[in-house]
Amino acid sequence: MSNVEKTLSIIKPDAVERNLDDQIKEMYINNGFKIVQEKKIQIEKLEAEKFYKVHETKPFYNELCNYLSSGPIIVMILEKVNAVLANRELMGSTNPKEAREGTIRKKFGISIDKNSVHGSDSPENAKIEIDFFFND
Ligand code: CMP
Repeated sequence: MSNVEKTLSIIKPDAVERNLDDQIKEMYINNGFKIVQEKKIQIEKLEAEKFYKVHETKPFYNELCNYLSSGPIIVMILEKVNAVLANRELMGSTNPKEAREGTIRKKFGISIDKNSVHGSDSPENAKIEIDFFFND
């Protein structure tokens, strides 16, 4: 039985600022993802803190939340068979320097902070993260 899933992807401020959104969406589409919903938004720091709450004890939490709220982002619901894992593979390692050739972060990421995209790390978190941005 095929396991069609949804996952959340965020095109982060560094990529939106460099007008890379169309190229990133094209990579998703070429890799068999359907973009079910998308919107361009800018969030407040407080919302970024809620979104990244799992990281609240990490030393990089404050910077991370400042960064995600620093400019426009594009949030997308992506759909594909095993979308969560497939998206993590297409994004590549968190640190662009360690990301495989052909991945989004290898191609566009600047640093571990400015790594161009976020993707849900599990089907459970995908539901929570989709609900966070698309709850109406
Ligand atoms: P993301 O997948 O959006 O999830 C949390 C983010 O924290 C991560 O991408 C990175 O951009 C950022 N981050 C900054 N420093 C670190 C670090 N040392 N380890 C992991 N993530 C980090």
